[in-house]
Amino acid sequence: MKFFAKTKDVASIEADLLAVFAFIGKGRESVRLSDEAQKIDGKLDGIITDAISSEEFEAKREEGIRFHTYGKIPAKTVLVVGLGTVADLTVFDWQTAVAVIGKKSQSAAAKRIAIAPPHEVIEAFGPDACAEGVAEGMLLGTYTFHKHKGDASKSNKRSFDEAYVLVSAARINAVAVGLKRGKTVGSAVCFVRDLVNESPSTTTPSYLGLVAKELVKGKAAMKCEEFARSEIRKLGMEGLLGIARGSEEEPRFIRLDYNGGGQKTIVLVGKGITFDAGGLSLKPSKSMETMKLDMAGAASILGIFQALPVLRPKAHVVGLIAACENMPSGRAIKPGDIVRMMSGKTVEILNTDAEGRVVLADALSFAAKNIHKPDAIIDIATLTGACVAALGEEISGLFTDNEKLAQRLGDAARATGEKIWRLPLAREYKELLKSDVADIKNISGSRYGGAISAALFLQEFVPEGVAWAHLDIAGPAYAEKAAPLTPKGATGTGVRMILKYLLSL
Ligand code: BES
Ligand code: MN
Ligand code: ZN
Repeated sequence: MKFFAKTKDVASIEADLLAVFAFIGKGRESVRLSDEAQKIDGKLDGIITDAISSEEFEAKREEGIRFHTYGKIPAKTVLVVGLGTVADLTVFDWQTAVAVIGKKSQSAAAKRIAIAPPHEVIEAFGPDACAEGVAEGMLLGTYTFHKHKGDASKSNKRSFDEAYVLVSAARINAVAVGLKRGKTVGSAVCFVRDLVNESPSTTTPSYLGLVAKELVKGKAAMKCEEFARSEIRKLGMEGLLGIARGSEEEPRFIRLDYNGGGQKTIVLVGKGITFDAGGLSLKPSKSMETMKLDMAGAASILGIFQALPVLRPKAHVVGLIAACENMPSGRAIKPGDIVRMMSGKTVEILNTDAEGRVVLADALSFAAKNIHKPDAIIDIATLTGACVAALGEEISGLFTDNEKLAQRLGDAARATGEKIWRLPLAREYKELLKSDVADIKNISGSRYGGAISAALFLQEFVPEGVAWAHLDIAGPAYAEKAAPLTPKGATGTGVRMILKYLLSL
């Protein structure tokens, strides 16, 4: 899939599908065509205004109507896409509109697609962000995971070869830059989706290690270090080892480094439970069905590191992945077991299904001990069902006591169309983690507020004074129902906002 910025006019561009746009106008009921859509309407004898008069098309978001052009213009078909009202149009809405174009081009088997962004959108987001949205919307919207399906369904989903973004000469450079960035980011998100959608018996902890090593090959600015069981033991990560005990698969601790210069060091920590059966606190079968998703945090870090050498932010970025399976067996960690963590704190494991916080805690201790003065530590994890109950399937929970980091991550999310909402690190709930026999226990004494108590548990392992943020992506990591930008299954959430954050430093 290739993306090009072109100065060609909508009336002269050669393509299988030409996408133009329409808004809901001031009078609410009225449809207002973009300048380019108006021009096409004129060339096609008012076919678009006819569709509007007969109420076949209302310019609502996710709406698209396609016409054949019968040789009246060089583009074979025209797709008019609704953008809703201009005033409240977000980057997410723009990407969604582009994803609709991607979907229609697949069903129409269009190979060359031209897109004419309206000046309203270019002005709202800037030409580069607008173009970035085009590349990301196209890549995310046309993503499929069909590698294990038969040939018939594979060829059903033919994807476009080339996409042209039509802009004025003055904007062509900015658009080209945005397209390149969008392609890099979009490909990284799709890479994460592939990793998460793959069979959990394939994407084992050692597999994640192989992927990480592959990512740094031939890249001067990148490094990868992989710790196997004996080295994990030497590090004192009894939390990670304890959770790994029930599995036949070897655990891995993975460290990635990207050196982009600059003054800042940012540490990213990912939960890499490659399958979460719950351990001896076994999950019911229905809840286990999607638990290959439990390495989505780790996968997002791998995706970010795939993009870093291309995007080249000026920072030192460290990626840490704690990877193991959470399985029941005769050797598995037991409810009631007390574990001495890398930090020296002891944890009473009362529920082996609250495993993510245990492995992450050791990764956070590794960061505290081995990384010199990090400017921020951000962990990303499919941590709690409670966060899904609180924020639903489309919004990630953000926990931090650092206002600046909250602001920066919020801005980054908004700019990329990802959705996060801040939840409190409520000090008053800390006592719910008190244990009778250890320093702390791994589940809360209350039935409620589970996303918060999990975050508070992690906070126990972050040194005082370090800017730390925790992202609970349990909801958005995996889509139970398809949307334009996210087909059913893994979504690759987190990659876009964290990359944007790193580029904003
Ligand atoms: N991996 C799960 C969290 C999860 C749930 C992710 C649903 C995605 C969708 C986590 O390890 C877990 O099992 N959490 C428990 C914690 C509980 C035992 C305190 C939960 O949320 O039920
Ligand atoms: Mn669990
Ligand atoms: Zn889990």
